[in-house]
Amino acid sequence: MKVVAIGGSPRLHGNTNYLIDQALDELASHGIETEKIVLNEYKVGPCQAHENCASFSECQQKDDGQWILEKFSQADGVILASPVYFGSISAQMKAFMDRSFFLFSHGMALNFKCAGLIAVAGRRGADATVEELRKLVRLAGSEILTLSGNSGSPDIDPKTQTELIEQAKTMAKQMAEILTAGSS
Ligand SMILES: Cc1cc2nc3c(=O)[nH]c(=O)nc-3n(C[C@H](O)[C@H](O)[C@H](O)COP(=O)(O)O)c2cc1C
Repeated sequence: MKVVAIGGSPRLHGNTNYLIDQALDELASHGIETEKIVLNEYKVGPCQAHENCASFSECQQKDDGQWILEKFSQADGVILASPVYFGSISAQMKAFMDRSFFLFSHGMALNFKCAGLIAVAGRRGADATVEELRKLVRLAGSEILTLSGNSGSPDIDPKTQTELIEQAKTMAKQMAEILTAGSS
């Protein structure tokens, strides 16, 4: 049983990454294997929209997008988390979403039973951003859990955001219940 988290924030010690860590720690406490992939640490270029995408056995972009998409498609559960930039997902997350087109053009199934979506704004736009993230996971037909919140200011220590942390842990607990249902 494995959950793969895809993080769209470049700030390794920011709110988005901290909330991912909280959720993954909670999942690990339920015996679930976890992995966090921060997109900004890798090269995931924007989709080049090859018209004959479906005819290629591999994505024509030889970067980290391919193995990250493979992990995403094979996971039992996924977390997609993004900061809110101009009312939407970060460019890193958008590039990843567009690159997932390769999976769909090749009829590759998404295997996850549950998806957790996290969006953190400064003040507004988190709900709309969660809806952007939903576009990628809704095709899997899995359970979808969401967390949208505001950090207030980038200077505030994420560790002090008790309400957001609580929400991340609750989301992860629910995810663990869904993933482990019927397995004991
Ligand atoms: C390029 C950029 C655009 C942003 N746009 C918005 C916005 O539209 N609405 C908002 O409330 N906050 C906006 N913010 C603030 C971030 O969403 C906020 O600081 C969030 O907590 C960042 O997540 P992080 O701590 O994981 O980096 C923006 C920040 C940046 C860097």
